[in-house]
Amino acid sequence: MAESLTLDLADAGATEAFGERLATALLRSGAAGLNVHLEGDLGAGKTTLVRGFLRRLGHAGRVPSPTYTLTEPYALAGWRIAHIDLYRIRDPRELADLGLRDTLGPAVVTLVEWPDHGAGHLPAADLRIGLQVSGSGRHLCCQALSVTGSSIVDLLAAIPGLQEPAAP
Ligand SMILES: Nc1ncnc2c1ncn2[C@@H]1O[C@H](COP(=O)(O)OP(=O)(O)O)[C@@H](O)[C@H]1O
Ligand SMILES: [Mg+2]
Repeated sequence: MAESLTLDLADAGATEAFGERLATALLRSGAAGLNVHLEGDLGAGKTTLVRGFLRRLGHAGRVPSPTYTLTEPYALAGWRIAHIDLYRIRDPRELADLGLRDTLGPAVVTLVEWPDHGAGHLPAADLRIGLQVSGSGRHLCCQALSVTGSSIVDLLAAIPGLQEPAAP
């Protein structure tokens, strides 16, 4: 079972393509749900990745950053999906006051930016995806944190065109 995968993403299109591949892996996995924590500084590409994920599942419209709304719900391909951005949250206890759990409702797929700002108030992550600026592109590390996460990493690794960078 694969526990992690690393990749270099040369441009925003590559980040979006990775999001699409993540959605493909989810569709192939038959998993009942998936919780993804997206880590990385402002501008690292987290929302760009989510955009590709949602497009692959059939979303045609805009993908607004949920910085102010905290969560944007989607219903796609039979999934209830929540795109969450906790950047503005300074204390996870604020989330209890805001009723994030109620807002999330029955979401079966969550994609969370700034998950550390919501520690203790979020579903346990199956996957942790870290993005880091690297030259003019980004370096991505995708780590499995559950059995479901491992099966997704296995499926991702099997999708053509998604190879780990060659060792230097
Ligand atoms: N692999 C990449 N290489 C270069 N630029 C990228 C890459 N991925 C995303 N970007 C760009 O980075 C900027 C910030 O992306 P965004 O997804 O909004 O970041 P975040 O949600 O992490 O704050 C956007 O202009 C986007 O096009
Ligand atoms: Mg963002």
